[in-house]
Amino acid sequence: MGESTATVRANNILGISAYYHDSAAALLKDGDLVAAVQQERFSRKKHDARFPAEAISYCLAMENLRIDELDRIVFYDKPLIKFERLLETYLSYAPNGFRSFVAAMPVWLKEKLYLKSVLRNELAQLGGCKVKDLPPILFAEHHQSHAASAFFFSPFERAAVLCLDGVGEWATTSTWLGDGADLDPLWVIDFPHSLGLLYSAFTYFTGFKVNSGEYKLMGLAPYGQPKYVELILDKLVDLKDDGTFRLDMQYFNYCTGLTMTNSRFDELFGGPPRSPESELTQREMDIAASIQVVTEEVVLRLANTLHEETGEKNLCLAGGVALNCVANGRLLREGPYENLWIQPAAGDAGGAVGAAAVAWHVYDRQPRKQNDNGGPGTDRMHGSYLGPEYTPGQIRDALDAAGARYTVLDDDTLFSRTAQLIAEENVVGWFQGRMEFGPRALGGRSIVGDPRSSKMQSVMNLKIKYRESFRPFAPSVLWERISDYFVQDAPSPYMLIVAPVREELRIALTNEQKALFGIEKLKLKRSELPAITHVDYSARVQTVHEEINPRYHALLKAFEQLTGCGVLVNTSFNVRGEPIVCTPADAYRCFMRTEMDYLVIENFFLDKKEQPDWQGDTSWQDDYELD
Ligand SMILES: [Fe+2]
Repeated sequence: MGESTATVRANNILGISAYYHDSAAALLKDGDLVAAVQQERFSRKKHDARFPAEAISYCLAMENLRIDELDRIVFYDKPLIKFERLLETYLSYAPNGFRSFVAAMPVWLKEKLYLKSVLRNELAQLGGCKVKDLPPILFAEHHQSHAASAFFFSPFERAAVLCLDGVGEWATTSTWLGDGADLDPLWVIDFPHSLGLLYSAFTYFTGFKVNSGEYKLMGLAPYGQPKYVELILDKLVDLKDDGTFRLDMQYFNYCTGLTMTNSRFDELFGGPPRSPESELTQREMDIAASIQVVTEEVVLRLANTLHEETGEKNLCLAGGVALNCVANGRLLREGPYENLWIQPAAGDAGGAVGAAAVAWHVYDRQPRKQNDNGGPGTDRMHGSYLGPEYTPGQIRDALDAAGARYTVLDDDTLFSRTAQLIAEENVVGWFQGRMEFGPRALGGRSIVGDPRSSKMQSVMNLKIKYRESFRPFAPSVLWERISDYFVQDAPSPYMLIVAPVREELRIALTNEQKALFGIEKLKLKRSELPAITHVDYSARVQTVHEEINPRYHALLKAFEQLTGCGVLVNTSFNVRGEPIVCTPADAYRCFMRTEMDYLVIENFFLDKKEQPDWQGDTSWQDDYELD
């Protein structure tokens, strides 16, 4: 074999997260994240956990690569350690665990125990090559992948890292110290003691879907009183001053049964779990408020301990619990760190990004690159705009194929006309550039509206999302004006921090209004920006930075110029139960199936009134399972 000296080839590492929930793939080229996408966006099945064939194909196409041309493939998890955990757990809880053991085994036998060979076969099939021709496949540890996704893509050269999730292999909580290309483990809390699973148990008990309804539980918390906090800390969670904790497993079922909680748990909270889709009562609201307080307490104590141990001024977060943006907001305001950075794909999808980074930095000892650019809020994630984008030719083809009627506008007209329509209380689908990686829409695949409008919240909920939500929508705010609206001066480019709405924008309520129940509370105008203000006067803020997303920033500037208001309502471009739209065809279908007024895809402008009748397929309700 001759040694090649002339050509310097890029080093391409593919990261994969799959077979648990929310499969994804990511491509690292010489340490730079060039693509990352969740499989659900292609398959149109929310939280799709199957082998992410299309996500991988997309990543490879970005660099025109075949699978056998990759330098390495890294999986985000070590399958055999996980299998050992399952076996040990079932055996230690036997014979109670036998039923779920039997129920779970076929899946594990089929896919997980033999995961390495399943993965190799799927990769070879996708690549049209033989298994022996595949590049080396490495397996990072689950929490190492989370930690790497948080630290190596953050703006910081040094940072403490805290990962909190349901469960990886054994660890449920892990702490790390990141320094340059080093990411060293500090300590862990092991299964079954898990903050993620505790939160999921309450998600289940209050009638929401585990692994996706956690957001709803968090959104419900401001309606309740935290009257169960002492009960939770007394019976369920033994929480130490340093934030470490143990759960009393006699109240939980997730080791041995097919549900999260059991009848002893029911007794503590005065009855059985709420059945999904049934009326919410004060009990669920009080439970939500209580588990939120406990979660915040655990996160704050753990973060404090980590700060005492490391003395670091920067903290990075990942793992599903890092999506609890109310806890993140408290950590930012009350915690000991100067700076906080949260991986936007904090759940398992982000493990794909982290696994690739483990190979590049930890194994290869490659140094970290500079931030995307010097501005505030910039890091190494490229704004999380890491998915597909479409050329004018592709958009035109897709719209023509759907029989759509459109005009093409120049940039200035596009921004000013869209701003004008938003100010007239229209709801606009906004599709620009590359699709977001992670659960939040950030102005790439968003539906936008006027936050000053009192009716916008219910219009967007009922006519677009087809739900009556007790959660308000999130605001996108011009970064340079964040302090005009919110009690916060730190960037939040990924919409993962909840901040209080400024006092002077609030509207005081009468006692009569305060006494209203449930969703009636949300309908009251409680600030100058009613569509984005929660019942506790908080908002889940996204800061929009010109250097990260210039087109979304330009839209906000045009809206500000017209109205004086530097904020828009931003919700993800999808209906209930549907993954965020990916292609122009997905966007047009969603536009036509809902009562959205206008659609903007790059410079293509579509008015609903001008569209032909939608001859489409079935209604969305038949396509998507409720989330
Ligand atoms: Fe995880």
